[in-house]
Amino acid sequence: MDRVSFTQMKDGTKEEYEFLTEHEIDHTRHTARRLLSALVDLDKSLSGYQITRLGHSLQSATRAWRDGADTDWIVAALLHDIGDIYAPYNHDEYAATILKPFVREQCTWCVAAHGDFQMLYYGHHLDGADPNKRERHRGAPYFDDCAEFCERWDQASFDPDYDTLPLEFFAPMVEEVFARQPYDPAVIRPGAREPLTGTPRG
Ligand SMILES: [Fe+2]
Ligand SMILES: [Fe+2]
Repeated sequence: MDRVSFTQMKDGTKEEYEFLTEHEIDHTRHTARRLLSALVDLDKSLSGYQITRLGHSLQSATRAWRDGADTDWIVAALLHDIGDIYAPYNHDEYAATILKPFVREQCTWCVAAHGDFQMLYYGHHLDGADPNKRERHRGAPYFDDCAEFCERWDQASFDPDYDTLPLEFFAPMVEEVFARQPYDPAVIRPGAREPLTGTPRG
């Protein structure tokens, strides 16, 4: 079989669905590679800043790496704005959805909420924007982590003169994370909090 014969899903056979599952597994294997290409596409999004969205993403990840953060944090920092391409109004949730099966719950939560937390830095300049939007998350277990994520890595990473590491440097970390067993409880570790900073690198 090189393709199924049904034209409506309800008419598919067991053999056809098993065949499709094989294709799906093969497709899934290349998620990391597709995400790395999507990051390159970020280079074209959102003009007006001194650096591109790809540059911002790489700089966020570089700062995370230099801070001694673990792989989950670094990959979360690298991908936190990947939703800008297709989901400009909920780019944070979009990125979190991609990360959710493969990184610690703590990191997914911070990526999902980072848009609200970032308002602290510019909301007061814009009509109708609430700089304290993050307050709706007050009391959440990862509130302080998200505040630190934004302060150290996100809002700080728009510097064209910063010594940012290239995408190739982070590619093996992205490969490692997306090769994990999805929703592995040993990875998700609900409630676990790892520090954003450890032994400084580089
Ligand atoms: Fe963002
Ligand atoms: Fe960002």
